[in-house]
Parts: sequence; C-alpha cells; structure tokens
Amino acid sequence: MIHGNITGIRQSVLDELERLLDAEFGREQFLPDRLLSLLVRYTDLLNREMLVYLSRDGEVLEIAIGSIGSIALPELHLRRNPDRLSGFRCIHTHPGGDARLSSVDLQALRLLRFDAMCAVGVADGLCTGIAAAFLGEMEYDNFSIVMKGPVKPGRIPQQLWMREIEVSEERVQKAIQEGGIVEEVEKVMLISTDSEDSLEELAGLTETAGAMVITRVLQNRQRPDPSMYIGTGKAEELALTCQALEIDLAIIDDELSGHQQRNLEAALGVRVIDRTQLILDIFAQRAQSAEGKLQVELAQMKYRLPRLAGQGTALSRLGGGIGTRGPGETQLEVDRRRIHHRIDDLEGELAEVKKHRELRRARRAKEGQVTVALVGYTNAGKSTLLNALADADQLVEDKLFATLDPVMRQVALPENRTCLMVDTVGFIRKLPHQLVDAFRSTLEEAVFADLLVVVSDAASPYYAQQRATVFQVLNDLGAADRPIIEVMNKVDALKPDAVFDPPDALLISAREGRGLEALKARIAKLIGTMRRPVEFVIPYRLGNLLSLIHEKGQVLEEEYLAEGTRVKCLLDAATEERVRREMGRTG
Ligand code: GTP
Repeated sequence: MIHGNITGIRQSVLDELERLLDAEFGREQFLPDRLLSLLVRYTDLLNREMLVYLSRDGEVLEIAIGSIGSIALPELHLRRNPDRLSGFRCIHTHPGGDARLSSVDLQALRLLRFDAMCAVGVADGLCTGIAAAFLGEMEYDNFSIVMKGPVKPGRIPQQLWMREIEVSEERVQKAIQEGGIVEEVEKVMLISTDSEDSLEELAGLTETAGAMVITRVLQNRQRPDPSMYIGTGKAEELALTCQALEIDLAIIDDELSGHQQRNLEAALGVRVIDRTQLILDIFAQRAQSAEGKLQVELAQMKYRLPRLAGQGTALSRLGGGIGTRGPGETQLEVDRRRIHHRIDDLEGELAEVKKHRELRRARRAKEGQVTVALVGYTNAGKSTLLNALADADQLVEDKLFATLDPVMRQVALPENRTCLMVDTVGFIRKLPHQLVDAFRSTLEEAVFADLLVVVSDAASPYYAQQRATVFQVLNDLGAADRPIIEVMNKVDALKPDAVFDPPDALLISAREGRGLEALKARIAKLIGTMRRPVEFVIPYRLGNLLSLIHEKGQVLEEEYLAEGTRVKCLLDAATEERVRREMGRTG
C-alpha cells in the first residue's frame, strides 16, 4: 500500500508504485541507480515528496508520498528498536531541488534510529544532489549526526556509505549498552499561525525543555480560529498525523484560552499546551534561587487563574511532562480562592525581595562597587559561567540575602579589581506577560548594571535568532546603551571552522574553563575606562586632585564646604582609585 497524500493520483501510477514494493535492489548500493531514477521520475510527475524505506537487504519496505513530517506511516515502522538501528534507511526526495537534510529529517533520524537518512534534491525532472546522515557519537545524552554530501548523482560513494551504516550500528549499540541515552522523551508536534522564524524559536525552546520535535505545522491564517486556534478541517488532518507519528504533545505557538486548549485536545487526541506553558515549564525546571522559584510560581498561578473553568475534563494534566511541572506542590491547585491567596502571598514576598534589591543597589553604588550583569538567552550557560568566574567561598552580601538569592557573586579581576556579577533570567522572544511581571526585578538588574556581558550559546543551531532576541529584549528594557562585552559560550561543542558575528566576540567554554582569563581581562579593562558617577569631598590642600578630576572626568556639581570642595563627577575607575588612594594616604 502506498501511504501519504495520494489524492488525485491516477490509479495506473499507484499501481506502478505498488510494483516497486516487490522490487529488490541488493545489498551493494546505498542508493541503487534504478531506485534513484524512479524516485526522481515520480517526484517530478507528482510534484510531491516521495519517501521509501529500504532495508539492508535492498528490499523496499514502504513507499509514501508527502513530507516526512506529515506522512502517516504504519506503526510498525515508526517504533524504534530498543537496542540497535532500525535496519532500514529512509530515502526521500525534496522537490524544490535542495538536497540538504532539514532539521526535521535529522530529528526523525535520531528518534526512529534509521540506518541512515538520505535526501535527494529534484528540480526540473533531474536529480540536483544526494545527501545522507548517520547517527554518530553521543553528545549531551543524544546522538550527534554524521553528515555526508550532498554529492552529484553518479558520485555516490555507495560502498563507503553502506559501511557507514555498520559503523553507526556499532556506535549506537555501544552507546545503548553504556546506558547514556535519555529515553522516553516526549514527541512533539509544533503548530503555528505566525511565521517560520517563530516556529524555529519554538523548536529551540521545545528542545531546551527536553522534548523532541517530530513535526512542525505552519498554517497561514489571518487570525487564529476563536474556538480551536486552527480550523476544524486542519485539526482533523493533524489528528491523523499525531496518530501516525505517535505524537504525545502538541505545542501551540501562541497563548491559548482554556476553551481553545480543551477543544484542540479533544480534536487532536493528544495533550496540548501553549507557548506560555512551555516557557513557564522551562523556567520551572531551571529556577534555582528562592526568588526565582517564587517568580515562576507566581507566573504559573497567574496563567492558571483565568483557565480554571472546566479544567480536568479533558486529558489529565497531572500525568507529568512538559507544562505540568512547577516549583511547589501547588501545581495541583485548582481552587480559585486558594490561588488568589497564594498569589497575594507570593506578591508580598517578592515585594520584600524587591525592597532588598533596591537597598542593596543603593549601597553598592555608594561603595563604588561595579556591577556586571550576565544576560543571554535561556540555556546559554550564564549560571555555569558565573560559577566558573566567581570566588566560590565568597558570600557576597548579608546572610539573609545570600540565602534568598545566591545569584550575585563577587568576581576577582586582574589589576586588583573586583566586580559584583549578577545572573539574570534567560531571555526569550514573546516572553509571556505573566513572566515579565514576575521577573521585573531581576530584569532591572540588567538595566542598572554598569556593564553587560551578553552570553550566547554558540553551539545552538538557533544561535542567530537567539542573539537577535537578546538584543531586542535589551532594547525593550532600555538597556541597549550599556557597555557590552559579547561572549560565545560552549565552544567546546563547536566545529573548529565556525565563524561568528560579531568577530570580536570572546570564545569561551564555561564548562571547561576556556577563555575565562581573557574575559576577566576584558571586563577589567572596560571597567578601567568606564565613567561612573562618584562624589568626593577634596580637602583644600589637595588641589592637585581637583585638577585631576577636571582633567580626566566630567564635573557635574561643585560646592565649597568648610572641610574642602564637594565634587560630584563622572570618573573612570582608574582615576577614581587614584583619587581615593591619595586621599587615603594623606588623610
Ligand atoms: P537559564 O537559567 O535558563 O537562563 O540558563 P543559563 O543561561 O543559566 O544556562 P546554564 O548555566 O544553566 O547552562 C545550560 C546548559 O548548558 C547546562 O546543561 C550546562 O551544563 C550547559 N553548558 C554551560 N556552559 C557550557 C559550555 O561551555 N559547554 C558546554 N558544552 N555546555 C555548557
């Protein structure tokens, strides 16, 4: 039987394709010449993607028409083997002519553990190239990918690629025996009516939350459907896809009403969460400080409150998985009155924290301490970097504060300088408003810091979008004019020839401690040149210091008092230190 989108295809063509199912191509060639020409011919004729599963013996196991993400294949071939590769390779065509493998292709390879994933570009009835990918070594609890090609037709290294399957099989078996693989990830369908860019970011977030994107759907609509977000017809179609691909969870790229969510769950037959729940879930997993936990809990409560009616009638949301995690046991809370109480409590506690922050900020400014804020996309490695840079035994402020919020640490820099470094909440585009409110005080740390270190995850495939988001959020916060140092983190996980924007960004690995000395040196240098507001009373006998201040800084106010000249000015750290030193020496 031919699977997928076969509507409108003549029966005679379907019969021809059925006959292909009986064909045997032998074990020698990775992509047998005859199969390649048939795939190209039918792709051109039907102007649709074609897909075949080819066993190691060269038997055609399945044929389907349509894209990998949307083809409904029998379950038999979608269940992966627990301890080895699937025993067949997935060969499919790209009618647009692009022979490269897409991220969906690679996800399917990882998830279903195909022998190989192979893409054939087809344009104007000709093959434009062939690419293949195999499962590689383990990295971050997941298989890396070994990419080959694209190569021209006729240039396929047939035996080499067959051998590559065997090598891949050995690696996979070894990794499974060693038990390093995270099993039972949730399989996710992403649905958006927004844009490809937005879907791409959603995919990155889904991976951060620990789930695997199996397929993405972009439906072009003027406005989301008020009752179900997508139209009924589309929902019926997607319900089939969910079944065929064994999807556990659909994530919608917008905020849904409770009503939309319930309708959509009923229509798709899988659990549905929205973008806000996904983001809240990521923060719930990552919140470490007491304050962070309060903030996440508050945001979750505020999200839940207007959605209480009818909850629990559809699929259970208490079964675990993305969207059900929270910092307290309150995730089971369904009573409106108690939620209101809890929100009041949380707001009260956070108001206290905010007061403390303001006091501390004022004190630091008075003591002339320089603050550096680490900002970056969620998962960029900010906390890891702070731990690597900070003096581990150094408690920064008073005890109360230190236990409440351990994210501000003292960092020793070259030239005998120090700074206070503060971690901030990870940035995300379309940050849910519940979170913006809850995290306002943390975000303010970025606005008030003397210097920002923008951390990017250079190894992320979503790196460019994430960096753009970070600068957008900084702009929105009014913090884009701060002095900035950019660092590219996780270079240990990078290809050696990767290039970055901007070129002067520092390449570091917070995990391995690479590049940290250079970062500290750059921070120290920048601090040395930065002008900050300071105030002194300069005794009249030290008139030379007053001249120095006039020469090096910018005087804002001057007043003559009995004990000397009170001067308020903007001064760089080096001059400030010199003034303090000389006043100390003589005074
Ligand atoms: P949020 O709290 O969500 O804002 O995240 P974060 O930016 O504080 O990231 P965190 O430090 O929690 O690190 C995220 C993940 O990246 C963790 O699994 C780290 O182990 C990993 N990581 C951090 N730095 C490096 C690095 O230099 N190399 C590699 N390979 N992984 C790293």
